[in-house]
Amino acid sequence: MVIAIDGPGGVGKSTVTRRLAKALGVDFLDTGATYRAATVAALDSGVDLADEAAVLAAVRAREIAYEDGVILLDGVSIAAETRSEAVTKAVSPVSALPTVREHIVQIQRDWVAERGDSAVVEGRDIGTVVFPDAPVKVFLTASAEIRAARRAGDAEAANLQVSEIVADLNRRDHADSTREASPLRPADDAVEIDTGAMDIEEVVAAVLDLVSAARRQAICEDS
Ligand code: DC
Repeated sequence: MVIAIDGPGGVGKSTVTRRLAKALGVDFLDTGATYRAATVAALDSGVDLADEAAVLAAVRAREIAYEDGVILLDGVSIAAETRSEAVTKAVSPVSALPTVREHIVQIQRDWVAERGDSAVVEGRDIGTVVFPDAPVKVFLTASAEIRAARRAGDAEAANLQVSEIVADLNRRDHADSTREASPLRPADDAVEIDTGAMDIEEVVAAVLDLVSAARRQAICEDS
């Protein structure tokens, strides 16, 4: 089954997703990495990021793949590049372009189909748009201050003050949740988990409970 993990930046989606995938013995997909790869392609080509057709052409000209937790562009790892400040700044405008999203969503759906529709997928619109029929949908939340404190340990944020990280998270939250195409929001049937007072193990355990419940439900429906 597809397990959709959505929520804002810095909430711990990646860590939770990786642990869940390991516990369940399935692959995981970080869809933020696919938008970051599209952004690298756009920046490489030097096109105006507001020129949707040009950005789409630049993105389509490159092959975006995701293997064993590593994002690849034309077969080469761009893991470090995707976390650079330039890409983090440019990813919001690029991921707001509807035709670019359509292209990237197709890559995401194909990736999951290649794995027999069994994966943990994290992002912003997985439960609402990419896999609206996912039997488990989780929306993780935490205040910007708590997310910034967590992110302060990441390499991406190593040179930044916590106040700068809060400002960056707030900027991206605003851009992601107010854009017209697939804004960041919980699906109507998502389970919201406020992770502010929880550690990773508790969050993973809560989602695994939801997976068990969904499996029982699927067995009941089959019989
Ligand atoms: O999860 P992340 O910080 O790597 O995501 C980078 C950006 O990609 C984020 O600011 C919004 C965009 N994104 C998106 O629009 N839809 C997704 N499913 C995942 C990420």
